[in-house]
Amino acid sequence: MPEKPQHFDPLDPASKERRAAARKRLDAIDPAKQPGGALDDPYRRDWFEAVYALAEGDPANVPWGNMVAHPLLRDWLARNPRLDGLRALDIGCGLGDNAAALVGQGAEVTGFDLVLRAVEWARERFPDSGIEFCAADLFDPPESWFEAFDFVHETYTLQALPAEILDSAQKAIASFVKPGGRLLLIARARDEAQEFDGPPWPLTRKNIEAFAAYGLDIEKLEDVPRTVTPNRHWRALLRKSAA
Ligand SMILES: C[S@@+](CC[C@H](N)C(=O)[O-])C[C@H]1O[C@@H](n2cnc3c(N)ncnc32)[C@H](O)[C@@H]1O
Repeated sequence: MPEKPQHFDPLDPASKERRAAARKRLDAIDPAKQPGGALDDPYRRDWFEAVYALAEGDPANVPWGNMVAHPLLRDWLARNPRLDGLRALDIGCGLGDNAAALVGQGAEVTGFDLVLRAVEWARERFPDSGIEFCAADLFDPPESWFEAFDFVHETYTLQALPAEILDSAQKAIASFVKPGGRLLLIARARDEAQEFDGPPWPLTRKNIEAFAAYGLDIEKLEDVPRTVTPNRHWRALLRKSAA
């Protein structure tokens, strides 16, 4: 449970200062930021656990804890038909804001995260939402989730995982989508030739196209320039062909 819930506003100087200090502390213990360190924690599980364990209830200490759904998700939901009656899954739900946006559009939502502390925090923030927040590992998910969801949403989890495990992460994400169902993906974008010293590791167009190996074809791929958001992003809608 969070110990000291605190206000967080990305535009407020005090919030920004706490966020910057947290990033510095978290980078210092991130094996992926140390030469050769990634081998110690190839799935970055220990680091994700540490982020929430060290946060002490302050969302400023969770680098993605902006206490509001991602603007590109909110924009997509506002421009597309509601999700009434659809079963939706939010991958790596963190503090729960994206899951809450999906439930706001009428979906029946499950949100999961590797880290129990994140799940507890999300539950505490959205107690009456009807969202089922649960702890689960993308690489070892419940069998009952196989092709169980009409709408799967993923923001920023793939880009937080090293290239070596990207393919198995994509396979797992695709496995949750029902035949005929959709995946909405939001991630930072880069060109193939652009080297990037992550984490995060922005995705390439090829990374998104690679979902085709697991039955998901691109329905719409938007390359969102950094004038709309602080960084260039992909917003991709993919669909699994009906059985
Ligand atoms: C960069 S954060 C993004 C969180 C959220 N999607 C958002 O946009 O605010 C990635 C999240 O994925 C979770 N995560 C990392 N590895 C995971 C795994 N193997 N299974 C499930 N969740 C995982 C982390 O704990 C973290 O909450």
